[in-house]
Amino acid sequence: MTSVIETKYYPIDPLAPDQGAIEECGRIIRTGGLVAFPTETVYGLGANALDEEACRRIFEAKGRPQDNPLIVHVASPDDIAVLTTELPPQAAKCIQAFWPGPLTLVLPKAFRVPAVVSAGLNTLALRMPDHPAALALIRAAGVPVAAPSANLSGHPSPTLGRHVMEDLAGRIEAVLDAGPCRVGVESTVLDLTETVPVILRPGGITREQLTEILGQVDIDPGLQDESQAPRSPGVKYRHYAPRGRVVPVSGPDEKVQARILQEISRGRNQGLRVAVLCSAESAPVYAASGAEYLEILGSNREPWTVAATLYRAFRECDQRNIDLILAETFTRSGMGAAVMNRLEKAAGHHVIFET
Ligand code: TXA
Ligand code: MG
Repeated sequence: MTSVIETKYYPIDPLAPDQGAIEECGRIIRTGGLVAFPTETVYGLGANALDEEACRRIFEAKGRPQDNPLIVHVASPDDIAVLTTELPPQAAKCIQAFWPGPLTLVLPKAFRVPAVVSAGLNTLALRMPDHPAALALIRAAGVPVAAPSANLSGHPSPTLGRHVMEDLAGRIEAVLDAGPCRVGVESTVLDLTETVPVILRPGGITREQLTEILGQVDIDPGLQDESQAPRSPGVKYRHYAPRGRVVPVSGPDEKVQARILQEISRGRNQGLRVAVLCSAESAPVYAASGAEYLEILGSNREPWTVAATLYRAFRECDQRNIDLILAETFTRSGMGAAVMNRLEKAAGHHVIFET
């Protein structure tokens, strides 16, 4: 059990973060403490990546399984040279095109990075976040910052400072709160240790964007097929999930809407508290449906709007003690790939298909 510690809370301006708060949080990280901080994707829980003991504390504070490696965050592409043993040409291309940004690169790990960070793997995940407060914090710390998402293991990733406080207050030294995260889902994890790059986790940079720069980009078959072990250890856990049961419904719009209306009544008849997560386009259909909570995730034509609200909606369902969450499904192109990956994971891959 972690002992209760007093968590300092710093609300900051995302574009011009208070330098005093940043310096203090940088000092905390440098001296072995844990600081939650905003990134463009989700909030991260940071520790000095070169301090084995500090990184152990990340796993303890989150209740994270030991076999799930951490992403190391840097403030400049130059900072990765000492963390990897090799920089393939594809890495240079990705860095040039997408850093700072929501793309994590898996590369051969340098010996100086403690094994606990990579969960014993000989590869290391690296990213340069696109958020002024994150970059200022890493610079102030003066060390690379290992950071998983700043949620308790099993909970949806935090996209608001409030979410971090709900999960980790009393377990970590400080929280930097810069308001909502722009992207809303985690970074894309791209393995560059083999000839053809492989997406291990879809995220904020789309496969289409990567293909444009790299040519062929594969997707880890373990992401879709439950009989195969995913190559990114974290992907196998049922996380991103609210407490209520998530049921995505897929198919032609009218069929989906009719089925969701039917499932709402069925759920209510069983005494369940029901929520509907839907697109702006079909929201009017559910207005008088009797659902306890209706959340418009975004536009089906603009999957990034859905990504930006999905985790907040999951947490809102928990706040409202929702038992059953009926969700429309979205396009799988562009950011839709990440949205559908998180939705299907939250549902334990059980989706209703209407034809
Ligand atoms: O957007 C993000 O990536 C956020 C922000 C805070 O940067 N971080 C994040 O970290 O989502 P986390 O720990 O929640 O997810 C890291 C993912 C896990 O699926 C983990 O298994 C994978 O990256 N990963 C880390 N190191 C890896 C490695 N060496 N090989 C394969 N997968 C790795
Ligand atoms: Mg996570």
